[in-house]
Amino acid sequence: MTDVSSNSSEECRSDSALDPGAPIIEFQDVGLWFRLQARRPRSLRELLLRRRRSDASDTRWALRDVNFVCREGESWGIIGPNGAGKSTLCLMLASILTPDEGVATVRGKVSALVTLGAAFNKALTGRDNIQLYAAYLGIPAKVLASKMDEIIDFSELQEFIDEPIRNYSTGMRARLGFAVATSLDPEILILDEVLSVGDRGFRVKSQKRIKSMMKRSKCILTVSHSTSFLRAISTHCLWLDRGSVHMAGPAAEVLDAYEGTDVLGARAD
Ligand SMILES: Nc1ncnc2c1ncn2[C@@H]1O[C@H](COP(=O)(O)OP(=O)(O)O)[C@@H](O)[C@H]1O
Ligand SMILES: [Mg+2]
Repeated sequence: MTDVSSNSSEECRSDSALDPGAPIIEFQDVGLWFRLQARRPRSLRELLLRRRRSDASDTRWALRDVNFVCREGESWGIIGPNGAGKSTLCLMLASILTPDEGVATVRGKVSALVTLGAAFNKALTGRDNIQLYAAYLGIPAKVLASKMDEIIDFSELQEFIDEPIRNYSTGMRARLGFAVATSLDPEILILDEVLSVGDRGFRVKSQKRIKSMMKRSKCILTVSHSTSFLRAISTHCLWLDRGSVHMAGPAAEVLDAYEGTDVLGARAD
């Protein structure tokens, strides 16, 4: 069992004053660990012994030595097995987690759909949740009001929009989140396995929207297990495995290598 506690941050910079040639996202030797939730000591002796042991035995690196650079106009796919560190990386990009080692620099305003639904309140209606989520993303109420109808149309949830979202399926919540997060041309968009829960029709529509956003956004980062989806929307790919960068570069090269790997064999060691 694990908990969310992470130690004090090394450095996570969110910097909007731009040197024009500077990368939009820059990770330099980034690492982040989680503390493992220890079971309760069974005796006073065990408690005292534990206190003398080093902290390292209670921690697990979720990411280590991660280096990558994302430049303006690029769309990065992030791929890798479960537990590879993909969501942890997205949470750092959204400044929800800060690195314990190295420097993570993000130059621009981030709109992140990371822990899907974490910003939603299930007791509120779809419409109220759009407002709540927009506030969480820092979208001013006036701007949101002018976009409300468009958001509802894109989500295709007109019939359900005044119902509490506890009655929505996971896919319906994903549609709502995606519609809000992409409605206002964010500078940096982060999508963590959002589209895997939607139906095929919505995926195709979202794919189109992501592609059109690539012309206006600075960077898009999309986590997905679907190599075909990532081929369609990415210029570059980051392949994570067990907290490290296995490969990073042009999307076609990384995805070819990923598809060519005997995943079961590779994980059997
Ligand atoms: N809140 C947390 N507390 C403790 N450990 C965590 C937490 N979130 C993730 N981890 C650990 O960090 C590693 C990477 O997890 P994650 O980033 O969620 O992987 P992925 O998104 O690639 O499936 C895993 O070993 C996972 O158990
Ligand atoms: Mg994940």
